[in-house]
Amino acid sequence: MTGIIVFKSTAGSTLKYAEIIGGETNFEMYEAKRLDLHPEVLDQADMVLIGTPIHAGKLDLAEWIKKNFPRMSKKKVLLYTVSLTPPDSPKIMAYLKAGLPDEIIKAIKFIPLRGRMRFSAIPFFKRIMVKMAINTIKDPAKKAMMLDETDHIKDENIKPIVDWVAEQSK
Ligand SMILES: Cc1cc2nc3c(=O)[nH]c(=O)nc-3n(C[C@H](O)[C@H](O)[C@H](O)COP(=O)(O)O)c2cc1C
Repeated sequence: MTGIIVFKSTAGSTLKYAEIIGGETNFEMYEAKRLDLHPEVLDQADMVLIGTPIHAGKLDLAEWIKKNFPRMSKKKVLLYTVSLTPPDSPKIMAYLKAGLPDEIIKAIKFIPLRGRMRFSAIPFFKRIMVKMAINTIKDPAKKAMMLDETDHIKDENIKPIVDWVAEQSK
């Protein structure tokens, strides 16, 4: 089975996970923007792993997925999200349901992953805006989560993805 990894990453976490997954599966990685220039790559893949960060409660690639899903309806599709919200938080499913229609959610395998906040990766003026926005958060736990720069990216986090790929290939 041929597979590809399609992703978007603004500060490198979703890219980092794509690299780890690519290392385990040998699937080629494509930025969603770049893949749009080569439609045959998506058309020829049997399996599509999509990686998107979550920003302000939204899946960055939600529109890309909705637009391209008709082309993927006969393929095995897995979506992984990367966020600071831990994967077991009910908020993750709320973000997913707000971003994608039920028929897509039912048709895909979903694996949420935890990323990291790296203020140094955000351009200076945007970083000031982001810090100001975080300062307005009322919930102290959420505020602390958004300011914490702990790196939650771990190789073992991708095990469910690698297992799923192996299962589809049987
Ligand atoms: C402006 C901004 C908004 C964010 N909003 C959320 C959010 O609503 N929920 C969340 O869990 N994480 C949020 N995050 C954290 C990102 O999801 C996290 O840093 C992720 O690893 C980013 O992926 P990337 O490095 O591939 O861009 C936000 C980060 C930034 C910079």
